[in-house]
Amino acid sequence: MITAGVGPYDRLYEAAPEHVLWESEPGRDVASVAPGYSARDAVDLGCGDGANSLFLESLGFRVTGVDCSRLALSGLENRFRGCGLAPQGEYLLADVLQLVKPVPTSLLVSSGLYHCLPNEARLSKHRAMQSAVSKNGLVIFCSLVDLVSDPPDHGTPPFDLPCIREVEELFEGWEIVGSRLRVIVDRHPPAGNKHLHSLVWVVARNPSGWSSTPSSLLQTPEVKEALAGGLWRVEPSGSVAQELRAGLSTAGQDDYSF
Ligand SMILES: C[S@@+](CC[C@H](N)C(=O)[O-])C[C@H]1O[C@@H](n2cnc3c(N)ncnc32)[C@H](O)[C@@H]1O
Repeated sequence: MITAGVGPYDRLYEAAPEHVLWESEPGRDVASVAPGYSARDAVDLGCGDGANSLFLESLGFRVTGVDCSRLALSGLENRFRGCGLAPQGEYLLADVLQLVKPVPTSLLVSSGLYHCLPNEARLSKHRAMQSAVSKNGLVIFCSLVDLVSDPPDHGTPPFDLPCIREVEELFEGWEIVGSRLRVIVDRHPPAGNKHLHSLVWVVARNPSGWSSTPSSLLQTPEVKEALAGGLWRVEPSGSVAQELRAGLSTAGQDDYSF
């Protein structure tokens, strides 16, 4: 169990200037989907130092962010301040596994959190958080997966990385709008200048949530265009794992970040 205040990336947040560790760009699916999405409320689980939250706030989203790391949330404040802004949303210092109930939302962003969570609890807890997404609402998800191991000097405790099948299970009953697997090149001390991770991204729509967000949200030209290119259609059969693994042979050739 994580004590609120401390997180697995704290050595890295501690070493980063003003505790701003991650890049200033939002995640690629957040960047491409959120601007054309007409709902304007979002939950950012494991919001870290706030690149996604800041981007979402700049689009007018009311953001609720949660992170267990005091250093990460201090980085978030510093990131906003560096842009001449103050966070308008609500940012909670909490372990997402200890949240009493999931926060209802039209857009759940879970970027880089899932692989941090302990194996035994994460599938059901994350699904519970997903269940608070409104009908036709979206989850924008990415997680490290176990096709590439973390380097031994990664600066975090060892993660029990999920396999692709586990990620598929996470979205059983969801409409997969798009998914992607890539090997990315990451850079942060102390794990050397360059190291590799395998990452899965999923954008999924809740076909049966608690209230109705019009499905036309996904029909705007911007969202359609964003989702059309480079995303692999996931069939509910589970055959996606093979498709994703096949993608690995061509991945890792270029620099590709979150
Ligand atoms: C890889 S970082 C990603 C940060 C941010 N979402 C992004 O995409 O830039 C993962 C974040 O999840 C947070 N985290 C890990 N386990 C957590 C937990 N159980 N509850 C809340 N936050 C957690 C870490 O403190 C860290 O800030």
